Amino acid sequence: MKKKIVVTGGAGYIGSHTILEILEQGQFDVICLDNFINSNNESILAIENYTGKKVQSFEIDLSNYSLLKDTLNTFDNQIIGIIHFAALKAVGESVEYPIEYYQNNLNSTLNTLKICEELNIPNYIFSSSCSVYGNIDPEKLPVKESTLCSKTESPYAETKSMGERMMEDIAKNNKVKCLALRYFNPVGAQKEAIIGENPKSKPNNLVPVICKAALGKTAPMSVFGNDYPTRDGTCIRDYIHVVDIAKAHVKAMSYLSEGQKLNFDVINLGSGNGVSVLEAIQAFEKVSGVKLPYIMAPRRSGDVIAVYSDSSKALDLLGWKADLGIEEMMSSAWKWENKLA
Ligand code: NAD
Ligand code: WQD
Repeated sequence: MKKKIVVTGGAGYIGSHTILEILEQGQFDVICLDNFINSNNESILAIENYTGKKVQSFEIDLSNYSLLKDTLNTFDNQIIGIIHFAALKAVGESVEYPIEYYQNNLNSTLNTLKICEELNIPNYIFSSSCSVYGNIDPEKLPVKESTLCSKTESPYAETKSMGERMMEDIAKNNKVKCLALRYFNPVGAQKEAIIGENPKSKPNNLVPVICKAALGKTAPMSVFGNDYPTRDGTCIRDYIHVVDIAKAHVKAMSYLSEGQKLNFDVINLGSGNGVSVLEAIQAFEKVSGVKLPYIMAPRRSGDVIAVYSDSSKALDLLGWKADLGIEEMMSSAWKWENKLA
């Protein structure tokens, strides 16, 4: 019987792409745990339909430890590891509702770490974020894992930083190997638009905003600030295709389960390329053939000027690097948005 990977938040954006990748690679089966607070079961059904494989899916809130234990108890010794995606993830919302963010994100991380110890699940991968680096001094770019993190800018980012700290402490007992993957800006969708980004909450991230404005679903998009000290005045980010991120998780699970001696480590997942907002818009216009309606607007509070990753550690340890570029990110996101329309 194949070993199973538990994917929490598996109905969500990155989780669903990772489940699809795991099933396509074929080494492991999947157990999905999600309370659908920001997703629905359609992504799981689409994956099952596409692959012809079954996903064992449970609707549970990970804050409820006894329910989590009852659910996973039945898979005696079959679970090779947990990939913990489940979290609330909107930076602005976390400033408004800090208690909900700390409660949901910290409890679910703690509970999934505890279940690893209790049920002897040996490997744990955590969705961390470039937001743990805080405001980066431009001289320190590209960001390495060893770059000192400054104060986090939001309760959301702090839940990621605290999650990493919990893992580091818990992993010292040698019962569970823990790896935090720090994603930069995941965008795009599966190439045939089987699944994509479909949050219940209003999207604020650049690529969904571009696609919705281009379809006329929303008003012209606002470019937040064109007076930054960058090559075209707009902010620079490290956009990374969600399919590349998904592939990194499969490699990371193999890396952990194939006998690595580590207790705890962190790895950046970025493309290593900085792309400005205007460059992202140009890439979108090129692949879609649509002229994007946009206006120049004031800076958005809390935005850093530029951030992009040094991804050499991921290459060294996991043999992973980003394969898909900004045009593939934009064309797949556009295909998905048209399907949603
Ligand atoms: P998403 O909202 O699409 O997926 C998260 C999933 O977790 C959702 O399906 C939601 O219903 C579920 N969930 C939340 N709380 C839960 C709980 N208590 N119990 C059970 N299920 C719960 O988000 P995503 O973009 O797929 O992000 C996945 C992870 O990656 C998150 O931890 C996020 O913080 C992290 N991350 C995301 C980004 C990004 O830009 N998307 C960047 C860096 C890190
Ligand atoms: C990208 C750029 C905006 C919308 C966030 C989180 C981070 C991580 C990734 C979770 C910025 C500009 C955007 C718009 C714009 N998530 N923009 N008009 O802020 O880099 O990172 O997602 O861990 O923690 O903070 O991503 O997509 O919101 O913005 O001009 O309508 O696009 O100013 O320069 P961000 P984003």
